[in-house]
Amino acid sequence: MLEVVRKFPEQVEEALAIELNFDIDFSKVKRVVVAGMGGSAISADILSHFSTIPFHVVRDYTPPSFMDENTLFIAVSYSGNTEETLSCFSLARDKCQHVAITTGGKLGEEAENVIKIPSGMQPRAAIAYLLFPMAKMLSNAGFMNIDFEEMIYNLKSNREEMEEMAKEVSNAIHGIPIIYGYGVMGSIARRWRQQFNENAKMHAFDFSLPECNHNEMEAWEENAENITCIFLREKNEMERIKARFDFMKEEYGKKANIIELYAPGKNTFSRAMYHMHVGDLASIYMAEKRGVDTEPVNLIMKLKNVLSQHSRSSS
Ligand code: F6R
Repeated sequence: MLEVVRKFPEQVEEALAIELNFDIDFSKVKRVVVAGMGGSAISADILSHFSTIPFHVVRDYTPPSFMDENTLFIAVSYSGNTEETLSCFSLARDKCQHVAITTGGKLGEEAENVIKIPSGMQPRAAIAYLLFPMAKMLSNAGFMNIDFEEMIYNLKSNREEMEEMAKEVSNAIHGIPIIYGYGVMGSIARRWRQQFNENAKMHAFDFSLPECNHNEMEAWEENAENITCIFLREKNEMERIKARFDFMKEEYGKKANIIELYAPGKNTFSRAMYHMHVGDLASIYMAEKRGVDTEPVNLIMKLKNVLSQHSRSSS
């Protein structure tokens, strides 16, 4: 897994080179709905922060009822066989223009417009292929404006720094990590949590500011010696967000270890990808520290099997 994850910058380049051959009339598109789960859905979460038109992410069996002929529906599933995503796809395909991002599976067979991505990886390790073809398609359509070159340059020129940061973070974590971020860094915090869960097989939680200041914060009245906080920060964050982080640092710091991380990069997207890659690496170092294998996701697969037996026996 480590070797695959280390190639993230090159995978981004490959992913951006994937040809987008399909027949979509983007002039009709007024909103985007993306259906996906887990390692596939997080790509859409991240991109939702950069969209100039309404952008909705569904992690469920049913897409929103507002979908119509002006909606671009994107089904993203690495395997192409995830039942929630397939369910949304079957309900959306006749209502709106659609694109599927997948390695194949049932989704690959049934979708009219397919962005085919390389197979043979764990979905969560294929984030470059799940995210960047979608980003390119939506940028080409004028729905987002992302400086891909700067982002790749930022990743390539900071490889050692990212490795170092990831090692330091994994060494510093004790107990349960709680990751906090604002805006897109809130989605990156979610990605960190997912990667700790799946790669390092450990509990982790994520929260977005400012919402967590209205609920989760009260839990800090309790003891927290078994928690490590990770703050994904931005140098140029809004004053109000800075004040919130400073308050949290002061209060939570009385009870738990706080790790504050800043990323280089000329824009928020570039810094988000930096933070994401550090988290991906940190989750692998965390797995090493815990002596667990990053690859298998036994319980996820076991449940998928149980559910597929269930649908076979009830059909
Ligand atoms: C496994 C992983 C999972 C899957 C999820 C959905 O590596 O990251 O979170 O992404 O179970 O499966 P796919 O991506 O095949 O639709």
